Amino acid sequence: MKTIFFLIISALLIHQLQAQSLSKPLGNLKSYKKTSNGVVVQTDHGNLKATVYSANIIKIDITEHAAFNDFSYAVTALPDAQVKILIQDQRDNITISTDSLNLVITKKPVRVSLYNKQGVLVNGDDEAFGTSWIDDQITTYKKIFPDEKFIGLGEKTGGLNRRGSGYQNWNSDVPGYETRQDPLYATIPFYIGIRDSVVYGIFLDNSSKTQFNFGASQDRFSSFSVDNGDMNYYLLWHSSVAKILESYSWLTGRMPLPPMWSLGYHQCRWSYFPESEMMSLAKNFRDRKIPCDGLWFDIHYMQDYKVFTWSHDRFPDPEGMLTQLDNMGFKNVVIIDPGIKVEKGYAPYEDGVKKDMFIKYSDGKEYNGQVWPGWCAFTDFTKPDARVWWGTLFKEDIDQGIDGFWCDMNEIASWGAKTPDNLVFNFEGHPVSHRTGKNVFGLEMSRATYEGTLQLFKNKRPFVLTRSGFAGLQRYTAIWTGDNLAKDDHMLLGVRLVNSLGLSGVPFAGVDVGGFVGDASSELMARWITIGAFCPFYRSHKEYNGKDAEPWAFGENTEEISRNYIQLRYNLLPYIYSAFYEASQTGMPVQRSLAINYSHDNMIYQTDYENEYFFGPSILVAPCVSTVRATKVYLPEGIWFDFYNNKKYDGNSEMWYEAPLEKLPLFIKAGSFIPEQSPVQFTAQQPTDTLTLHVYYSSFNSHYVYYEDAGDQFDYQKGDYYKREMQLIASSKQLVLAKVEGN
Ligand code: NOJ
Repeated sequence: MKTIFFLIISALLIHQLQAQSLSKPLGNLKSYKKTSNGVVVQTDHGNLKATVYSANIIKIDITEHAAFNDFSYAVTALPDAQVKILIQDQRDNITISTDSLNLVITKKPVRVSLYNKQGVLVNGDDEAFGTSWIDDQITTYKKIFPDEKFIGLGEKTGGLNRRGSGYQNWNSDVPGYETRQDPLYATIPFYIGIRDSVVYGIFLDNSSKTQFNFGASQDRFSSFSVDNGDMNYYLLWHSSVAKILESYSWLTGRMPLPPMWSLGYHQCRWSYFPESEMMSLAKNFRDRKIPCDGLWFDIHYMQDYKVFTWSHDRFPDPEGMLTQLDNMGFKNVVIIDPGIKVEKGYAPYEDGVKKDMFIKYSDGKEYNGQVWPGWCAFTDFTKPDARVWWGTLFKEDIDQGIDGFWCDMNEIASWGAKTPDNLVFNFEGHPVSHRTGKNVFGLEMSRATYEGTLQLFKNKRPFVLTRSGFAGLQRYTAIWTGDNLAKDDHMLLGVRLVNSLGLSGVPFAGVDVGGFVGDASSELMARWITIGAFCPFYRSHKEYNGKDAEPWAFGENTEEISRNYIQLRYNLLPYIYSAFYEASQTGMPVQRSLAINYSHDNMIYQTDYENEYFFGPSILVAPCVSTVRATKVYLPEGIWFDFYNNKKYDGNSEMWYEAPLEKLPLFIKAGSFIPEQSPVQFTAQQPTDTLTLHVYYSSFNSHYVYYEDAGDQFDYQKGDYYKREMQLIASSKQLVLAKVEGN
């Protein structure tokens, strides 16, 4: 009996010891010291640093090493030295307080919890696991609550509420991806948690492969992990999702005002060539009176797919062609891939080798991978000199009249899709391997492209579109969601992807309208083009194979629907531009998931309604598939007006709404202001001198900020703009226009 008892005890002990060696916990506090804006804690197994960035943002760094690694490509803000902080050492914990929050660090074991000033726990470490390591991987485990929801995390498939799902961040080239596929092309490790009456944000600032678990395959915790490197995350607390987005965009930067033409309609195809085809495309738009601003050149414009060249057979006189297109009111964008063909005599390659601009293996040999042109070298965009060098390569394109640049294949994509890990990235002079460099490659390519073209354009606004990226990409570029399918479920997935990007600091995003892979039916194209009119970036695009996909290629009905909705988009440009202005000021996205304004309304998370969103502050869009002619709509609390006939609806209600193809369900919130201009065919065309202001009466006071400027340069920074606040005084039914701001 004794022996059996002894064996059981030994087995239990061995099991526990094995479990401990599998998972190394941070352990207990050994010592700590105060810093100017927080504390540094030494624990049994590592170090933790808490740094106050603002009254609402605290950063937590955890490392096994002696020194903390604070470098970030994503964050541009510095801790605000003006914030009032109180640090108190109680017996069992240390508390850091600002005017908005209390961060409690318990000592045995070390755990981190955030409370609001009412003493409500906003977000706290899981008591059992806290932060711990398994081999190289470090994970922070958070308490999960039964009603807790998770939104955001950037370009991620799945539902609005990510509860029950897990995700990985590893930027990947995923042509024709599935509606549940993960990961896709871009990484934004920022999410917002919502429960009871509280909301909070967590931004995991590490560019290595990261994993998120929102109660997937278990219901014990939520967690986030870094596969290699340290745990560096920000805790953001505020009273609303909008305020969290303001804080997050303060941390990682806001988008600059885009050029007005980029908000128009764009037509793309892999690829329009030769010149005669491009010119006939342009003429078709103008003849058919379908407004359009952007015509795009995919890879066939190049000589043998070599970036910064033109195929002179297909386009014998690029400058002449671009001038003609410009005279017709079109702007032009060319695709730019990061791969530079390895070829003797090809200037970008030879110069890049001479100046040491390319990524190398750890033994110093140049890395080559195969893409469109064959074997290529890749610029190391994490090297400051290489970014500047890359920027100079755009000179000829810009001199010839190109207006924007489309950064594709920047995950890095190459045939075989397995970029080796033993590549070295400069990382601003602190070399790292591909494991840490990969996820920021697209971000830094976009940055090099934006900064380089900004220099060359002088006072003209650059336009960059990227496929890959990392948190902070909004500072340089718009993003699109890559190679989707011409299917109804992809159309709705696209809506959720753009909503989620908006919840992750990226206001300027779009999808391939019509679907990249496959042929859309005329119904699908019609529906998609109406939804696209209410998407921040509005571009039709399609793969090389398959049928024509221009708005007139699907029959008269689809052409008519396209014309009407594209025209509506142009009429609404004053409203849309003001929404972009707001994004540039506060980080509020242009396409807004209902979770921003109605975070605690459970209805908006239901599958039937999770795709609904606001386009700008006032227009509620209820997208539906092309196979239905009526759809279920949920209107959250408040009073609403039908966009088409001004019929009034009470909110907090569900209904069936007639949705023939020519009628995308749109509702206007009471108290809204919608400025509208007269029809134009392209953004540079002058509308008439009258701006119509639609005001939707509400029994509450409401207000709106209208903003306008030249739309294509930077003189607004010197005061050359027109900004006007408007108020609706409900009791007296009066509209009050404030004094004009700006020159
Ligand atoms: C992949 C991109 O995702 C797609 O949009 C483009 O047309 C092709 N590359 C060809 O350049």
